[in-house]
Amino acid sequence: MRLRFVYGVPRSPVPHDAAPNGTVLCSLPTRTNSPAMPSLHSGRLSDGEKDELKRDGFVVLKNAVPRSVTERAKTVINQDLRRIVHGDDPAVNGLYNDSVLREVMLDAMGLHTPPVNAQVAVTLPHFADAVVRRKATPQYAPRAHVDGGWAGLCPVKRSAILAAGEALETWGSNGDPRSMGPAGGAPLWQDRTRTLAIGSYTALVAVCLNDQRRPGKGQFSVRRGAHEAVQAFFRMQRARGGPIGGGGPDWPRLVAAGEDDAYAGIMPDAMEASYPETGFENEHWPWPELTPVLMEEGDAVIALHALPHTATPNMSDDPRMNVFFRIRRFREGNPHEGNKRVGWGVSDHPDRALNGDFLDYPGGYDPFKTSIDKLCDHWSEWDGLRDIVAA
Ligand SMILES: [Fe+2]
Repeated sequence: MRLRFVYGVPRSPVPHDAAPNGTVLCSLPTRTNSPAMPSLHSGRLSDGEKDELKRDGFVVLKNAVPRSVTERAKTVINQDLRRIVHGDDPAVNGLYNDSVLREVMLDAMGLHTPPVNAQVAVTLPHFADAVVRRKATPQYAPRAHVDGGWAGLCPVKRSAILAAGEALETWGSNGDPRSMGPAGGAPLWQDRTRTLAIGSYTALVAVCLNDQRRPGKGQFSVRRGAHEAVQAFFRMQRARGGPIGGGGPDWPRLVAAGEDDAYAGIMPDAMEASYPETGFENEHWPWPELTPVLMEEGDAVIALHALPHTATPNMSDDPRMNVFFRIRRFREGNPHEGNKRVGWGVSDHPDRALNGDFLDYPGGYDPFKTSIDKLCDHWSEWDGLRDIVAA
């Protein structure tokens, strides 16, 4: 089924809907600038921004979202700073759908289902992240990850795993693909035949809602330029027969933690050892291997799925406020483009329902093989970067 995109005259609020029949109605936003405000970002990436995206795996777009749209979202978010998922709330999803971001992504990447959901991420002062909400301590060291894996503290103790004759590295190799991770909620296996252990999308698009220009404000942070190393790792796993992701070649599903615990979702040493030596030196930034994405209200960042990223502790006295959208390029033959059960915009495993349920697919379309192909060739999903990637 092909999506039909209908671009209409912008109204307020801008209507958008992803109907189950595959018809997507979307109006592109009106761009207006008040005299006091700097110009809004254009609806296309410049060649320089495309070069940055290719090189670093991410690019910051200055002033991508009008102040009226950020204020509307903040009014909703401020009602409950701890609420992560707001669902189909136009004030939150409008940060993408009612700004140039959708236009930019249509041009740079290609067709996609407009987000009907998002991850609101408020890192409270002196907390380390916006989801698990660990207290920030001097000992805490954030570690970058790639989204889509079954992650968190394993419910089975290490001693019990070993007593059962299992290994931490391959634990779960015969596990239930419907099992959802203790943190983050991704399935143990994407497919019933257990060839793929990581969900994926094309790009994480984050909108910044307050001043995050000073390092240490809980910035979304990345291993700059590591996206190609991650792709190379997936290719290696595929070449060795898979599976792809945790539990596959050179990627232990679990690592030992604490006295008798095991933890899932950690990037393997073999992958991390292949990252380029990029980083960020600053007196207020104790994690030099990570690059903080410095933004202010209305700025946005586009980052490839393959770019390792992490929350970082907010050492200021002001909440850090971002909203994240997970965007995946439209896939020919996928009957679930626009299906709200997928949780488009928030899900890191869009080949399954957001709650982990398996979806029905026609015989001619294998969503899991398609995702493996894309994990191993991420630039194939960026129509607007073909010339720059080829150069
Ligand atoms: Fe993440």
